[in-house]
Amino acid sequence: MENSIVVNLSNINFGYKEDLLLRDLNFVLRDGDRIGIIGPNGCGKTTLLYLIMGLLKPHKGGVEIFGRKRVREDDFVEVRAKIGFLFQNSDDQLFCPSVREEVAFGPLNFGKRGREVENIVDESLGSVGLEGFKQRVPYHLSGGEKRRLAMATILAMKPRVLLLDEPTLGLDLPTVEKIVEILNEPGLSYVIISQNRDFLKRTAGKQYTFENGALKTLD
Ligand SMILES: Nc1ncnc2c1ncn2[C@@H]1O[C@H](COP(=O)(O)OP(=O)(O)O)[C@@H](O)[C@H]1O
Ligand SMILES: [Mg+2]
Repeated sequence: MENSIVVNLSNINFGYKEDLLLRDLNFVLRDGDRIGIIGPNGCGKTTLLYLIMGLLKPHKGGVEIFGRKRVREDDFVEVRAKIGFLFQNSDDQLFCPSVREEVAFGPLNFGKRGREVENIVDESLGSVGLEGFKQRVPYHLSGGEKRRLAMATILAMKPRVLLLDEPTLGLDLPTVEKIVEILNEPGLSYVIISQNRDFLKRTAGKQYTFENGALKTLD
């Protein structure tokens, strides 16, 4: 598996209207890659992650994930189960009546039950500093707390591949430190979108930005 290709986007064209936003975009994430993407508002960063998750489909070009072409909605079921995706807006991610249920949702979906689920919930909430929040209502949390909860729901699924859309937005420094620690654990592959250069310096091996609708390496 070492260095095998996890995500391979080839010659992607995509636009919401007639104009193309992404043009002949190529992107490869290999096992173990830690990639940071930085770029101004509206350049297409979130769109790129949506294309990987199958939430948008390209007009042209190939989406290959875990070695298989992904075209139809069905093709993305496995992708969404195996890749942990942090939405830019946590309200898009959270839908349960309690924090406990929110974090338990993924593990229950994977067939885990009982004590094992509770342990995962405790561990995931602990890793983002939300111990003691289990009975709280996600909808009533602050922006930063929602973000940490969204991160916990992803960690609870123990993915080896993460796509994180502006993970530090609205977080205080201690929480950013926790996330840096989590990301520096061995075995993870990820794409992080962020405007936080210091955070990217500490978490990303390679960095890209956008130029003319495609990705350009930053040195
Ligand atoms: N659903 C949509 N319909 C029309 N335009 C959209 C839609 N979503 C995003 N856009 C536009 O596409 C461009 C890229 O959006 P996005 O990928 O969210 O940018 P970024 O994440 O880099 O800030 C922006 O100009 C945005 O307004
Ligand atoms: Mg965005």
